[in-house]
Order: sequence, then structure tokens, then C-alpha cells
Amino acid sequence: MESGGDWQLTERVRASIRSGTGDLFAGAVRATRMAMIITDPHRLDNPIIYANDAFLRLTGYTRLEVTGRNCRFLQGPGTDLDAVARIRAAVDAERDVNEELLNYRKDGSTFHNALYLSPVHDEDGTLLFYFASQFDVSERHALAAERDRTRAAFDANALLLREIGHRARNDLQMISAMLTLQSGNSPDPAVRAALGEALGRIDALSTLYRQPPPTEDNAGHDLADLVGEIAETLVEASGRRDVALVLDLAPLRVRPEAAGPLALIVNEVVSNAIRHAFPSRAGRLTVRITRDGADVTVTVEDDGIGLSAAGDGSFEATLIEVLSRQIGGAIRVRPRDPAGTAVELRLPADRIGA
Ligand SMILES: Cc1cc2nc3c(=O)[nH]c(=O)nc-3n(C[C@H](O)[C@H](O)[C@H](O)COP(=O)(O)O)c2cc1C
Repeated sequence: MESGGDWQLTERVRASIRSGTGDLFAGAVRATRMAMIITDPHRLDNPIIYANDAFLRLTGYTRLEVTGRNCRFLQGPGTDLDAVARIRAAVDAERDVNEELLNYRKDGSTFHNALYLSPVHDEDGTLLFYFASQFDVSERHALAAERDRTRAAFDANALLLREIGHRARNDLQMISAMLTLQSGNSPDPAVRAALGEALGRIDALSTLYRQPPPTEDNAGHDLADLVGEIAETLVEASGRRDVALVLDLAPLRVRPEAAGPLALIVNEVVSNAIRHAFPSRAGRLTVRITRDGADVTVTVEDDGIGLSAAGDGSFEATLIEVLSRQIGGAIRVRPRDPAGTAVELRLPADRIGA
């Protein structure tokens, strides 16, 4: 468009805004759902000279009640004075400004106002009026407040969990210390062996509390870490340098209520294999976690002398059976080809997953 046309358009828009009637643009300002006002900085205290219907709906005032007043009547005790000072500075400097501030309706209720205001100058740079739009962003503020409350509640829970974990770990350490003392005082090798097994189980449970506490986006326990740590600790504690440990662990996060039983089951199966599979020769122990659709399988495989000594009816077998049933799992023991035993624990992923 040539500049003469530009000028004419600008003049028409300005004239129509002044009169608030007639023009297409003025019609749009009147009809829009966005609250808009125009103020006149050449009058005392920069009063409102035009307010559209959306502004009246938003604030609850009539046109008569707002015309001729400075907009600060929307402010109240909860309005942020720093935001008001920034608006004042922008208005004084004839700059546009974006601010979010708390405003009050005629009935005293509040809303969060995303205010945009801008000076309008003519071609010579002379200030004509101020134009502003007001957008109610209360819902966003309510959502943000809700999110803050949820986060605070989560942080409080995480703190509590850490504290409980800390105490549980201390208690387990105390029980371990007592059993170790008792075991050292007993002349009976059978008692010492039984206490040693109990100590192993307590240690497997302690592994749970050595893991990092859950976070908002990382709930539950890392099963691969848990299983890996238990197997490594057991092989190391056995002193069997001729037993090679192979870990093949798919990543999976499990619920706290499933992590305890899983830790105990892995402890039983791995310690059983170390004790019985390789009585007088070297061997390899493979611990695997696989995910297959709706199932998670934890497998402990040895290439030892055949089916392990912990047969049906033993305390270990009963413990494993009870624990796996507790988390909805099924245990299967089968011979491996060409040698050894595989113990497979199959679990429903939706029951144990975090
Ligand atoms: C065009 C225009 C629109 C304004 N709209 C609002 C508004 O919706 N809500 C508000 O709290 N302040 C609004 N203000 C700001 C106040 O009118 C005033 O400029 C501000 O309170 C700073 O000045 P004061 O310290 O003298 O009060 C607007 C100002 C102008 C120029």
C-alpha cells in the first residue's frame, strides 16, 4: 500500500477508536472476548476513555463506573507493588510492558491479570493514547499452585521415606551385629551355619536401603541394580574366585512392596547355586532379567553338577515359593543342557513394575 493510503488508514483507525463507533477495527475491539481499554494520557491521571464489553464482564463494573478513572482501582492489598512500579516506569517512559498482577473485581473477588499495555504514537512520535489488553490467567495460576502443592507433598513423602529407610537400615545393622555376635559365641557349627544364612538374608534386604531414594520421575527400585549388587556380594562373600558371575540385566523399576521379596528370592537362589552347584570345580553363574511382553523373568543359571541340593520341602524352597506367590510369580527349576540348573522366576510386569 502507498504511504498516502497508510496515512488514511491510520487516521480512520484513530478516529474510530476515539469515537468508539463505526469502523471495522472498532467493531472488532468492541466484540472481541479479550478485555481491552484505551486511556488518555493528556487528561489528569491517565483515565480510561474506552472499555470494551469483555473488560466490563471481566471486572464486573459498568462502563459508567470505569470511564474517567485510572486503572489502579483494579488493584488491592494482594497486588504486587513491584509489578505496579514496573508498569508506572513503563508508562512514564512511554514504553510497552507485559505484567501479570493480581486484580480485584467490583464484588471483591480476585483474578490474575496478564496485562499488556502499549503507548500509541502518531507519525511524529507524539503520544496519542495508551492501549491495553487484560487476559484472565487465574486458571494457569491455580494449576501452577496445585503443581507446587503436589511437589511439596511428594518432597515431604520422599523425606519421610528416606528417614524410614535410614531407620530400617540402622535396625537391620543392629540385628546383623547381634546375630554375628551370637554366631561367634556358638560352638555348634550347625547353629553358626544357620545364623550365617539368616545374616545373608538380612544383608540382601539391606541392599534395598542402599539404593537411591525414589524421585518424582523415578519411583520404585532399580531391579537390575538390586539383583546385580546381591549376586556380586554373594559371590565375593563366598570367597570362590573360580566362580565367574555373568550379569545380563534388562532395566526395570519395581514397586517397593515387590523389591523386598525379589531381593530375598535372588539371595536364596544365588546362594544355593554357589553352595551346591560347584562343589569341587570352577563354574559360571549367569543372572538374567528379561522382559517379554507382559512378563518379567529373573533367571539364575549355573553350569554345575546338576539339580541343586535344595529340593522340595527344604526351608529355602518353601521360602522361595511363598515369596514368589506373594508377588504373583511362578518359580520353575529345570536342568540345563548340557550341564547345570536353571531357576526361572516368571512375574507379571504390571504387578511388580513401578
Ligand atoms: C492503558 C493502561 C491499562 C492499564 N490496565 C491496568 C489493569 O488492567 N490493571 C492494573 O492493575 N493496572 C493497570 N494499569 C496500570 C495503572 O493504571 C497505573 O499505571 C499503575 O498503577 C502505576 O501507576 P500508579 O503507581 O500511579 O498507580 C493500566 C495502565 C494503563 C496506562
